[in-house]
Amino acid sequence: MARAVISRDIEEAVRLLKAGSVVALPTETVYGLAGNALIRDTVMRIFKIKGRPTFDPLIVHCKNAEDAFRYAVRIPSAAIRLAEKFWPGPLTLVLNSTRKIPSEVTAGLGTVGLRVPSHPLFHQVLEALDFPLAAPSANPFGYVSPTTARHVSDQLGHLIDFILDGGPCLYGMESTIVGFEKNVPVVYRLGALPLKKIRQVAPDVTVKIHASSNPKAPGQLSSHYAPSKKVLWANAAPSSVLEDRLTAVLVFGPSPEVKPHCHIMNLSSTGDYHEAARNLYRLLREFDAGPWHTLVIHPIPQDPEGWSDVLNDRLERAAAPR
Ligand code: TXA
Ligand code: MG
Repeated sequence: MARAVISRDIEEAVRLLKAGSVVALPTETVYGLAGNALIRDTVMRIFKIKGRPTFDPLIVHCKNAEDAFRYAVRIPSAAIRLAEKFWPGPLTLVLNSTRKIPSEVTAGLGTVGLRVPSHPLFHQVLEALDFPLAAPSANPFGYVSPTTARHVSDQLGHLIDFILDGGPCLYGMESTIVGFEKNVPVVYRLGALPLKKIRQVAPDVTVKIHASSNPKAPGQLSSHYAPSKKVLWANAAPSSVLEDRLTAVLVFGPSPEVKPHCHIMNLSSTGDYHEAARNLYRLLREFDAGPWHTLVIHPIPQDPEGWSDVLNDRLERAAAPR
C-alpha cells in the first residue's frame, strides 16, 4: 500500500469515513485512528491496524452530548453534570452501553467510553456524518501516542490512506477517563482534564489507577506509552549510564541537575506544565529516533493543578518492565 496522504481536506476525510474507511484525525488530546463506530468490519480494521488486543475497548466520539447519550442507558446524574461542564473537551465518560454499539467496540464489557472532542476539524467531520466515530490513539498498541500528523505517518502511514492534518495537538495528552461505580464517579485514567476540575463538579470522585491490566480499564497496562528503547528512572540508573554520551536525560524546569555529557531533553525550560504535557510524547519519539540508547527520567515535581500526576503516570508506564 502507498503511504497515507497528509492533508487538510475535511471533505475527503468525510468521504472516506462514509465509505467505511479508517482515517487518522486530529483531536485536542492526541491523534485518533477513526472509523464508523456502528460498522463491525470498520471497527475490526481499527484493531488490526493498531495491533490492539480485542479485549481493549475503543472510545466512541460524538458531535455533542445529546448524540453521545443516545448510546448510553441509566446515565448517572454526575455524568450529566460532567458532560455539561466539560464537553466538548478532553473527558471520556464510561457509561452503560445501548445495543446500538457493536460489542467489538466495547470489548463486550457492557459499557461504552463516550467523548465529545473539541478540536474544530474533528468536530466539523462529525457534523458532516450521521454516525459516531470509534477512535483509539493513532499509534501501534503500547507505543507513544501521536501529537502531530507526521507522528501518525511515521508509524501507520503504510497501513492507512489518509491523515487529516490539524497541526500539533493542544494538550498532547489523552483524555481523562471517568466511569461510575454505584453512580459515584471513578477516574480510571488520568489525562488532560485535571482531577481538580472534576472535583469541582463531582466532589465525591475517587481515583482507581491500576498499574496492570484490569477489567474496568483494560488499556491501563503497566507498560504503555513506551518508547522502544530503554527508559530508566534516574535513581535506578547506574553511574556508567549517567556518564555515557549516548544517554539522553528528560528533565523539567529551568535548572535541571544533570551530567554535562548527557543529551538533555527539557519538557519545559520555563517549568510550564501544559508545555511539558504537549512536549512529552514528541520528546519520547525524538529519543527513539535519535542515537541514544537509554533515556533517564526524573519525577516531575508536584503542581497545584495535578499535571505532575498525569505526567508521572505516563513516565511510570514508559519505564515499566516490558
Ligand atoms: O484522548 C483520547 O482519549 C484519545 C483520542 C483519540 O480521543 N483516545 C484514546 O484512545 O486515548 P485509546 O484507545 O488509546 O485509549 C482509550 C482507553 C483504553 O485504555 C480503553 O481501555 C479505555 O479507554 N476504554 C474505552 N472504553 C472503555 C470502557 N467501556 N470501559 C473502560 N475503559 C474503556
Ligand atoms: Mg492509546
